Amino acid sequence: MRHKNIVILTGAGISKESGIDTFRDRGGIWSKVKVENVATPQAYERDPSTVQNFYNERRNNLLDTSIKPNAAHFALAKLEREWPGNVAVVTQNIDNLHEAAGTKNLIHMHGELLKARCANCGLVLGWEKPLGEGEKCPDCHQKTLRPHVVWFGEMPLMMDTIDQLLSDCNLFLSIGTSGNVYPASGFVQVANSCGSHTVEINLEPSEGASLFKESKYGVATKLVPDFVDTLISNQQASLSI
Ligand code: APR
Repeated sequence: MRHKNIVILTGAGISKESGIDTFRDRGGIWSKVKVENVATPQAYERDPSTVQNFYNERRNNLLDTSIKPNAAHFALAKLEREWPGNVAVVTQNIDNLHEAAGTKNLIHMHGELLKARCANCGLVLGWEKPLGEGEKCPDCHQKTLRPHVVWFGEMPLMMDTIDQLLSDCNLFLSIGTSGNVYPASGFVQVANSCGSHTVEINLEPSEGASLFKESKYGVATKLVPDFVDTLISNQQASLSI
């Protein structure tokens, strides 16, 4: 099998056609609010209610019934079901659309909008209500619940597992990310150094476009299902030889 183990990195672009804003496109989130005011530990220390409200609004949007997985999310879940090797999705996104589409082997390296974390005892729990309104941690009973989201200056989650996945993969696919934020933007170099084939699928060339061996530009809901179907049919064809 040409590509036994597959690692797929996703970014905000894969959720764009589901109605969730990206960060750096025209009109994106960072064109409306400053990172340093809502997505750093210093901002939370200085002005917790502004930070909590920023995530309360995004959590509310995500819970709107109009927000659903799109064809790209479903295609990755199909690949996981039908691929004979290992398929792992590592997402920078904090939405729950990969899970909602059926992906099981999933790492949220930047955390999850529908979870809260206790800054005092470390408990992580599912959370769909607003935060910052005096709610208490169910374990330590302190009023220290924050979004379970990785802020700038904090360490992304599960990096050891991600490094191992990248070392073992034969195909690295990057979908819908501008390649602006490290360490995710460096994954393609790790995959290249381990001899993996590397493919970028994005609306336009990312910051790291030149590092990929193959690239496809256009909308994820068209390119990702096509890519997955071709991968699976080529695999089936090679088996029938
Ligand atoms: N299909 C495919 N790609 C798309 C689509 C689409 N329909 N729409 C937009 N894109 C692409 C854009 O061209 C852009 O390159 O998705 C990319 C989104 O880039 P960003 O907005 O920078 O989002 P992302 O790369 O996920 O940001 C990484 O930065 O702010 C932090 O924590 C935040 O996880 C985020 C990280």
